[in-house]
Amino acid sequence: MKHLITLIPGDGIGPEISQAMMEVIKATELPITWEITPAGLSTLESEGSLIPQSVFDSIERNRIALKGPLATPIGKGHRSLNVLLRKKYDLYACVRPVRSIANISPKFPGVDLVIFRENTEDLYMGLEEIISEDEAHSIKVITRSASTRIAKAAYEYAVKENRKKVTIVTKANIMKASDGLFLESCRAVAALYPTIITDEILIDNMCLQLVVDPTRTDIILTENLYGDILSDLCAGLVGGLGFVPGANLGQDFALFESVHGTAPDIAGLGIANPTAMILTSAMMIRHLGYEKEASWIEEAIQTVYSDPNNYTKDLQGPLNTVEITSEIIKAYLALKGVS
Ligand code: NAI
Repeated sequence: MKHLITLIPGDGIGPEISQAMMEVIKATELPITWEITPAGLSTLESEGSLIPQSVFDSIERNRIALKGPLATPIGKGHRSLNVLLRKKYDLYACVRPVRSIANISPKFPGVDLVIFRENTEDLYMGLEEIISEDEAHSIKVITRSASTRIAKAAYEYAVKENRKKVTIVTKANIMKASDGLFLESCRAVAALYPTIITDEILIDNMCLQLVVDPTRTDIILTENLYGDILSDLCAGLVGGLGFVPGANLGQDFALFESVHGTAPDIAGLGIANPTAMILTSAMMIRHLGYEKEASWIEEAIQTVYSDPNNYTKDLQGPLNTVEITSEIIKAYLALKGVS
């Protein structure tokens, strides 16, 4: 079966890391072709739109998209394309696998966890009200249906990926109504999966546990705000945002994205680290059913980074974008050859 995937290269270093990623996917020889649909600052200049209609048309045709980082100009009234795509395609599950890569973050070896963050509600609905000059309110919305579907996504993933434990993270001792409803909805789903261990923990304690010993955590199931914060915290444990992939999954659409920004300070210099984008493409091909090739890409990255001579500039190493990409491809082909 052939797969046509929408590729939004993005702004800044986006085109460079997208090119690197496409070369790795080409080396897999999988039947994947790209429909490249620019969006962001480049199309704002050329077409007067941050998100040309062609992007939506392409996503709606292909249903699977992979995107690089997009700049969100501050204070210019542009809406974040990331948020817009999540809302438009009801991408309710933000999934962030976090895994230690070789020895690049020596304080935290052996991390292998996955965050399932509810992506559509909570304090991120933009329901804010200025009451007076001295008072503002933000409304936190939690529904049983949205909580149930993210919980189902997390438990289904646990079963499929042979994971042992799901940890439900809330602050239900304080926000008894909203977080209480999230917890209650997750517990109801947990009861349907007796083979998976369910743990419950408060967000503050979760942060403590993660920085003390993140290897004890398996799958985290949580609300939008807590998930947002935990995602970056966990990325920091394994070397930063340049080393973690991400996906936003819905019923009908899937959007895979590298979660770091556009790195405007190094854009065009050929030194961007494509690792997150390549790991994101591995996540995407796994979603398409190519487990073996996805694992080989991940393993190839582990192999390459096990030698500090292969470190990229952001890790104070010698390799640029093209060089690290060719090392990853070499390691991939070696793994494929021995299998
Ligand atoms: P950033 O992630 O672009 O950069 C922070 C630092 O990390 C910079 O020093 C940068 O050079 C470095 N860095 C990031 N990714 C790298 C990579 N792959 N290789 C090597 N170094 C890398 O964050 P910043 O500066 O806060 O944001 C810049 C722009 O990116 C903003 O317009 C922001 O809105 C956008 N952004 C987009 C995101 C997305 O589309 N998912 C996520 C975060 C920010």
